Amino acid sequence: MGPPAPDAASEVFSLLELDPAPVDDDFRSTRADGARPSSSWSAKVPAPSRMSSLGLSGHSPVFYLTRIQKYSSYAFTLFAAAHITNTSLIPLTTRSLPASDTYLLLTRPYYQDFPFEQLLVIAPLALHILSGLALRLYRRRQTVRRYAGEASTRSERRRVPWPAVSGTSALGFASTALVGGHALVNRGVPLLVEGSSAGIGLEYVSHGFARHPVLSFVGFGALVSVAVWHGVWGAAKWNGWTPAQLVRPGYEGEIRRKRRWYVINGIAAALAGLWMAGGLGVVGQGGAATGWVARDYDNLFKSIPLVGQWL
Ligand code: HEM
Repeated sequence: MGPPAPDAASEVFSLLELDPAPVDDDFRSTRADGARPSSSWSAKVPAPSRMSSLGLSGHSPVFYLTRIQKYSSYAFTLFAAAHITNTSLIPLTTRSLPASDTYLLLTRPYYQDFPFEQLLVIAPLALHILSGLALRLYRRRQTVRRYAGEASTRSERRRVPWPAVSGTSALGFASTALVGGHALVNRGVPLLVEGSSAGIGLEYVSHGFARHPVLSFVGFGALVSVAVWHGVWGAAKWNGWTPAQLVRPGYEGEIRRKRRWYVINGIAAALAGLWMAGGLGVVGQGGAATGWVARDYDNLFKSIPLVGQWL
């Protein structure tokens, strides 16, 4: 038989060409590089309809853990919105700490009283961080099963790599340390020492800036930039907007990926800049407290574990 006639050939090659797409969430979630495709992919690929006898759909733990990690971040985004308003936007508008502190006191019950603090801040943060760690452990176990096998020796298993830590994840770990330290100084220490953090507001922060300017500028600068960069890249990832989530070959794809990178970093820079303008520029310049309030604040700074002895 000779080569196919032009017509036959065009029939064979006119088959619809599809971009590679994942088939189920187990496959998607366990690529050897530990990367996860975008959630917009999952929207396009119908989920397999498997029901267990308990009525639960037969999704893998990755399905549930990723959703816990995602939806928990929505809860503390609400808190973050209230927080940037109180600590930056209002100070930028009023240019007065006592006036801004009034607004802070007004909204505080909605994120500090029981059960709001637990529901809006503590539980979602714990779920967000722990689900990320659980995903990491689960993916690693899957990779060990696939590449080393159940009967592998300990040293063989040790050679199987852990899922890569993405830039966003690394910023997430740094945020955990910085947000934890910030919450300890502003909420934990006053609660432990005085039984309440009712007297803590923007004046406490401005007093800290006046007494320990280098530590405060470096600490708050790092806290705001790292947490904002993590949150903005994280939100982009949930929506399938990161450069890595654009599956388009060639020069056009390259240009679009670059554009995404600049837009995401531009948004993060604008948001972090705005937060710092009010937080460092207005609150940070408010000056030291006086009298017994100043002595009370100094005493709280000295009670901070580990660092307090040098303050
Ligand atoms: C504004 C809200 C936030 C969003 C949208 C968000 C989103 C994300 C996303 C998408 C990931 C997965 C990154 C990846 O797999 O490449 C992640 C991981 C992580 N996030 Fe967040 N996040 C937010 C806020 C925070 C905060 C405030 C903290 C800490 C106090 C935090 C701590 C972490 C940690 C530790 C990880 C890494 C978990 C791991 O990879 O094992 N996140 N976040």
